[in-house]
Amino acid sequence: RKPLSLPRLADMHARGEKISMLTAYDATFAAMADAAGVECLLVGDSLGMVCQGLHSTVGVTLDTMRYHTDSVSRGLRRVQGTAWLIADLPFGSYQESREQALRSATVLMQAGAHMVKLEGGGWTAETVRFLVERGIPVCAHLGLTPQTVHALGGYRVQGRDSEAAAVLRRHALDLQDAGAAMLVLEMVPAALAASLTRELTHCATIGIGAGQATAGQVLVMHDMLGINLGKMPKFVRNFMAEGGGIAEALHAYVRAVKDGSFPDDRLHAW
Ligand code: KIV
Ligand code: NA
Repeated sequence: RKPLSLPRLADMHARGEKISMLTAYDATFAAMADAAGVECLLVGDSLGMVCQGLHSTVGVTLDTMRYHTDSVSRGLRRVQGTAWLIADLPFGSYQESREQALRSATVLMQAGAHMVKLEGGGWTAETVRFLVERGIPVCAHLGLTPQTVHALGGYRVQGRDSEAAAVLRRHALDLQDAGAAMLVLEMVPAALAASLTRELTHCATIGIGAGQATAGQVLVMHDMLGINLGKMPKFVRNFMAEGGGIAEALHAYVRAVKDGSFPDDRLHAW
């Protein structure tokens, strides 16, 4: 298989082929997901909960993100993996200034990331443009943005009323304009995610709890393997419940994203 790249992802987007993404935090699971054909691996700051036992992603540091990005990147290299590797800029590592964001992104890119992800809209567009102009591909993230959980008042659906939906849409268009090649939409109504996906022709929407119309899907790997310390979110499907081992579950996830059978808007969406 040829390595994934920005042009290949843009081509998939243009052709309407669904993009599959999963989180990965270590070398072994990264290699397994790559072998299953997952196109994008996200070293998500959800590792704060999954690996570190934290209550939120707010406590995850840049040094921890660097450690896990290094591990995932080495795991991919060992198996000559082809996945596109995205790493989250953690809370506090990009909010201060565009220069701070560039320094933090550099740490993750030098650990092997191909793209960085950051949360929020509005002020972030300027930061995204600054990074993209300097050769760092960026994935944006709107809707439920877990780093701001304390400001949002909990892990709940975002963009429900027309006013909130209009703000989200404005932010999404600004982020595309700033050069974000991907946009994670987390916990937004399926209808809103669908209309944003139609409007954003140069930025691939990746949904999580955002319905089936997005250009791609992402899940926390541990969630889709049915191993989760907390309450399983409604938008998750447990691919281990269908029998077989981890490799089979990862393959089944890729197949279900590609053929549109996951997510099922009657079960996994708002
Ligand atoms: O950290 C993470 O796992 C994420 C995904 C849920 C999009 O940001
Ligand atoms: Na994240």
